[in-house]
Amino acid sequence: MTADPPVELAVPADAAAIAAMSRDLIETGLPWNWREGRVLRAIRQPDTNVAVVREDARIVGFGIMEYRDEHAYLSLLAIDPAHRRRGAARSLLRWLEASARVAGVERIRLEARRDNAPARVFYNEQGFHEVGITRDRYSDGIDGLVLEKWLRPRQSE
Ligand SMILES: CC(C)(COP(=O)(O)OP(=O)(O)OC[C@H]1O[C@@H](n2cnc3c(N)ncnc32)[C@H](O)[C@@H]1OP(=O)(O)O)[C@@H](O)C(=O)NCCC(=O)NCCS
Repeated sequence: MTADPPVELAVPADAAAIAAMSRDLIETGLPWNWREGRVLRAIRQPDTNVAVVREDARIVGFGIMEYRDEHAYLSLLAIDPAHRRRGAARSLLRWLEASARVAGVERIRLEARRDNAPARVFYNEQGFHEVGITRDRYSDGIDGLVLEKWLRPRQSE
């Protein structure tokens, strides 16, 4: 791929497709928490950005980031398997990170499954650090890994 895939904000009509991708690509084997109604609320919430990458009008990747007081929380990020390793996730993350900087938050946090090697490599590549482990975080007994990226110099306490 020569150029970063374009990223845009999701619209309400995207909610069902995003929920299905979350079920199939992220919440596999787990209770389905991000159903259409929840995604729709996220799309409508002013403190949350739902961003998508499309190909021929179809969503091939999406990311959901919530902006909290001091940090932004990346709730979900997934790319359709047939469209991976083309920079779509990197584009989405850069776009969401730029929005977080504009929102003035100091860092981005997220949680990933400890057994998710591709995600760990990807987030490390994007400047995230692994800062903690949440034991038995997921309902199938897998630990969660907390990752963080500081967007501005850390304030001494
Ligand atoms: C992790 C995920 C989001 C990466 O999406 P992607 O669009 O393929 O990633 P990109 O093409 O932007 O990759 C950027 C860089 O990350 C690293 N990377 C991404 N996927 C990788 C993999 N499977 N193995 C090793 N490195 C990987 C590489 O350094 C890559 O650069 P390169 O292709 O030039 O080597 C995707 O595999 C996915 O959707 N996984 C399932 C859902 C998930 O785990 N989401 C994250 C936790 S919520």
